[in-house]
Amino acid sequence: MLPSPRRYHVTTFGCQMNKADSERMAGILDDMGMVWEEDPLSADLVLYNTCTIRDSAEQKVYSYLGRQAKRKQENPNLTLIVAGCVAQQEGETLLRRVPELDLVMGPQHANRLQDLLEDVFQGNQVVATEPVHIMEDITKPRRDSEVTAWVNVIYGCNERCTYCVVPGVRGLEQSRTPEAIRAEMEALAQQGYKEITLLGQNIDAYGRDLPGSTAEGRHKHTLTDLLYFVHDVPGIERIRFATSHPRYFTERLVKACAELPKVCEHFHIPFQSGNNDILKAMGRGYTREKYRRIIDTVRRYVPDASISADAIVGFPGETEEQFLETLSLMEEINFDLTNTAAYSPRPGTPAANWEGQLSEEVKIDRLQRINHLVSSQAADRSQRYAGRTETILVEAQNPKKPSQVMGRTRTNRLTFFEGNIAELKGKIVTVKINEVRPFSLTGEFLSASEVEAPVAAIA
Ligand code: SAH
Ligand code: SF4
Ligand code: F3S
Repeated sequence: MLPSPRRYHVTTFGCQMNKADSERMAGILDDMGMVWEEDPLSADLVLYNTCTIRDSAEQKVYSYLGRQAKRKQENPNLTLIVAGCVAQQEGETLLRRVPELDLVMGPQHANRLQDLLEDVFQGNQVVATEPVHIMEDITKPRRDSEVTAWVNVIYGCNERCTYCVVPGVRGLEQSRTPEAIRAEMEALAQQGYKEITLLGQNIDAYGRDLPGSTAEGRHKHTLTDLLYFVHDVPGIERIRFATSHPRYFTERLVKACAELPKVCEHFHIPFQSGNNDILKAMGRGYTREKYRRIIDTVRRYVPDASISADAIVGFPGETEEQFLETLSLMEEINFDLTNTAAYSPRPGTPAANWEGQLSEEVKIDRLQRINHLVSSQAADRSQRYAGRTETILVEAQNPKKPSQVMGRTRTNRLTFFEGNIAELKGKIVTVKINEVRPFSLTGEFLSASEVEAPVAAIA
């Protein structure tokens, strides 16, 4: 018998990995007989799944925790959990900073939540941050969507980008077997899911750690092989994957995307900087020229593909000229979307201790300038949809306009149109696009289907 906490709340910060982990942890809590509570201030168990990629992400958690710590002083039965990347980074320190916490658990421990909680319910304060082998999870995640789902394929990251906390908090790469991934996709298809996004921080590293790899680095389980292996799961209509690393990105992967109809025409390939010296200092392992060649390859095989990326401005030592090279690379490519960030020095990463840290003023100025270009490129890339017929997988009602539903094009542009969600959820709909904005589109319903028609047939 577990003591009283019965209504739980999970707030998630950070990337898709964290969202996927939260869904699995919520599934475990459901399995333990608890029920979801929307309001964090009335739940009996509160779990913050945290992100530490930038200082601003980390600080957010502390303000949330302050409020909960106060609640706990009045209500000792409240169970407080910090999971995810801040938990891993701070460990015991977090307990000293917020003594009201019951459980501090790193991302590798997500699937062990039930065991850890049982320890907590014995009256212990628990810290779980040691590296572990990630077990296959046998409980059913509580997924946010009934249409699209994330499937982890590789955990961790073995890269050493000099600005990045991820390898420190997520640990070494651990690939799931192709069989486990396919089985999860089959189960999802049976539950009615239509779209799968395969997840990894560096998804091109998939399979390197599985048996069958050779000392020279050749391995038989690559991401490309995985796509061929899972492609025909009946019921799954769309397959996406993220994040691609330019260092390992292969022409074979692009060919597979061109060849496999379910793999969507969208590539998320962060470049981080357009200057070779900065790329070298970042430890990224590729040049601007190599990045350009990758994009050329993508556009040769999949001409209409959307291409998105991440970029950092204000890395230590970045000169104005070097920053301008980031803008010029963007101009040469014309991205559908670029996520940008001002460099944030992170504890335990090499670049945080380097000379040449730039002032906040310079970083913010560069961020504003790059973001201006991001929007104008997004607007420009959206133009190509005007008047076109697109297939949209309907995910949900438009929260801002309930007469509309929303979904995405295969290229990942958010699209709205008038329609009834009860009828259309999970359907693949052809829509004529008649309004374009930088980051979204509006269209008019033409017809609905259960399956994705080949694009050529509906044009
Ligand atoms: N694995 C992915 C990205 C993971 S983190 C890759 O290799 O590209 C997501 C994004 O956060 C990164 O692409 C980077 O643009 C940004 N980021 C990571 N560390 C950062 C830091 N210290 N300061 C600012 N942005 C950072
Ligand atoms: Fe961080 Fe680099 Fe790994 Fe991406 S590849 S998660 S940026 S260390
Ligand atoms: Fe943040 Fe951890 Fe993801 S630091 S970006 S939640 S891997």
